[in-house]
Amino acid sequence: MDEKVAAIINKYNVDRGQLVSILQDIQAEYYYLSKEALIQVGETMAIPASRVYDVATFFRAFSLEPRGKHLLDVCLGTACHVRGAARLLEKIERSLAIKRGGTTEDRKFTLETVNCMGCCAVGPAVKIDGEYFGQMSTDKVDNLLTKFE
Ligand code: FES
Repeated sequence: MDEKVAAIINKYNVDRGQLVSILQDIQAEYYYLSKEALIQVGETMAIPASRVYDVATFFRAFSLEPRGKHLLDVCLGTACHVRGAARLLEKIERSLAIKRGGTTEDRKFTLETVNCMGCCAVGPAVKIDGEYFGQMSTDKVDNLLTKFE
């Protein structure tokens, strides 16, 4: 029994109509929805586990895999690609010691790639937690990463 999950459920008065909000809050706390958390929600709220699981998998915003605190997207679209996005991605993978799609062991970063984030003019670009960083280069990577604790 996870105390934080219990507190979130209680905050919504164990209201089944608030299931999505409860799952959102749990994900905000842990950055993903663990199997244990989903079971606890189902048992506490008397909702079948299959229903909780259906809701958790229906919304793309929910992740059932461990995620990092910060989501780092590297753009590999054409405009960024011709300006060295592949090298940039390699450098970020080395710095974080993970491959794309992975999450660092300390759960600080999840690294993903996208195919264009609409700011081609300032490519190569990366996005961290929704904030864009353009004109990136391999030698700016480590400095940028240290800004995210
Ligand atoms: S190709 Fe990277 S922002 Fe468009």
